[in-house]
Amino acid sequence: MAQIAVIGAGYVGLTTAACFSSLGHDVVCADIDEDRVERLNAGEIPIVEAGLEAIVREGMDGGRLRFVVGADVAARTAEFAYLCVPTPQGEDGSADLSYIEAAARQIGPALPGEAVVVNKSTVPVGSTRAVERVLGRDDVAVVSNPEFLREGSAVHDFLNPDRIVIGSDDQSAAVRVAALYIGVTAPIIVTDPASAETIKYVSNAFLATKISFVNAVAAVCEAVGADVKDVVLGMGYDKRIGHEFLRPGPGWGGSCFPKDSRALVHIAETAGYSFDLLRGVITVNDDQFQRVVTKVRDQVGGSLDGVKVGVWGLTFKARTDDTRDSPAIRIVGLLAAQGADVHAYDPAVKAPVDGIEPAGDPYSVCDGADVLVVLTEWDEFRWLDFDKVAGLMASPRIVDARNLLDKPALERRGFRYTGIGR
Ligand code: NAD
Ligand code: UGA
Repeated sequence: MAQIAVIGAGYVGLTTAACFSSLGHDVVCADIDEDRVERLNAGEIPIVEAGLEAIVREGMDGGRLRFVVGADVAARTAEFAYLCVPTPQGEDGSADLSYIEAAARQIGPALPGEAVVVNKSTVPVGSTRAVERVLGRDDVAVVSNPEFLREGSAVHDFLNPDRIVIGSDDQSAAVRVAALYIGVTAPIIVTDPASAETIKYVSNAFLATKISFVNAVAAVCEAVGADVKDVVLGMGYDKRIGHEFLRPGPGWGGSCFPKDSRALVHIAETAGYSFDLLRGVITVNDDQFQRVVTKVRDQVGGSLDGVKVGVWGLTFKARTDDTRDSPAIRIVGLLAAQGADVHAYDPAVKAPVDGIEPAGDPYSVCDGADVLVVLTEWDEFRWLDFDKVAGLMASPRIVDARNLLDKPALERRGFRYTGIGR
């Protein structure tokens, strides 16, 4: 079993650390956030992720998982150092590599000889080489091993991946990284660093393309009087198309698709290719936020000024507490900018976010509301008491931006219902 340092204890780092320890490795996970490390050492999990708490506890109790402050501290005994730090969007749309470079600078002098540094952060083509340069160590190999987990099912996705991608020019380092996944059943693709880095970006871009495509199809369905649910069902049975990632909604968001799609446009542009298809995908997504706002405005008769809007959902999708780049928050902002008085509830958001003070329960935001807007697909919203909701509202109107609710049942209760593409 290997000695692994994981740098960064966020969604990817904490999951990576806990899962590697559950595979039997000895893991030290480092963060610069002292408070986060203190909470983790006290057994407190700072993010909502199914199954994470149990395997963190198991690793800590078994002595195979520790949390420390500072990347250099974790690197001292590491055979492998996994970089899981942020790569946010820079001002020109490119990925900001300053966290990666800072982490590499911190671990460079501390790593033992023959260690392998593994990039799990999403980084542009050429970053493996950039990390090599910053490390300045001839005896340390750098390998790209991008991560494909989804938030909300991170532990499941890490331990049951569709594939493991390893990019390296050093065959023996690649084989050593592959061996860390002992116990995980998945195809392993070993390739060069540029191809591995490209696989990560184009996978996210393709998924974003599918969603923008279906959101555009939903607009067509509305125009021609078709039902997008049946249309997607009919498309998806074609095995070449499939049903996954074809749920229309308020637009895609989260900490990755928005920054990664823009970064890929920038990477292509810098390399001399204008990725117009992906630009279109981003434009369709930006339009989708506005389309939801228009639906709300149409429901209330053409103006949002002074209109009381109840909102269910603030996270970028269900089963996570993550609100980074959430379409829901964008749409709440657009509604407020047009004069609406917005009150929002989300089961996973209790603290104020982007100037929104979340309500304590789903019914209170319906009190006196002219319209209710569903922006995140939390399952619990389906089972609320809609007679009570109708009784509380000034007028029973719903814009269901996730096609989550039972339209005929709501219409029987007297609601005016608008979904997406139906
Ligand atoms: P995050 O913001 O949740 O976590 C990053 C952590 O790194 C933070 O806790 C931060 O304090 C810490 N950190 C920053 N610099 C550090 C340093 N020098 N030493 C130690 N710790 C440091 O980010 P995330 O969502 O885990 O994403 C990390 C990377 O993984 C990004 O490149 C992202 O694109 C990629 N990724 C994310 C997901 C996802 O679902 N969130 C999935 C696949 C890939
Ligand atoms: C996504 C990818 O699915 C992961 O494979 C990848 O590792 C990760 O980005 C990353 O690189 O960070 P995640 O951001 O957790 O994972 O979220 P998704 O489940 O992909 O959803 C992204 C957005 O698309 C959400 O806003 C979601 O509501 C939306 N979506 C998704 C739809 O509107 N329709 C769909 O059919 C699917």
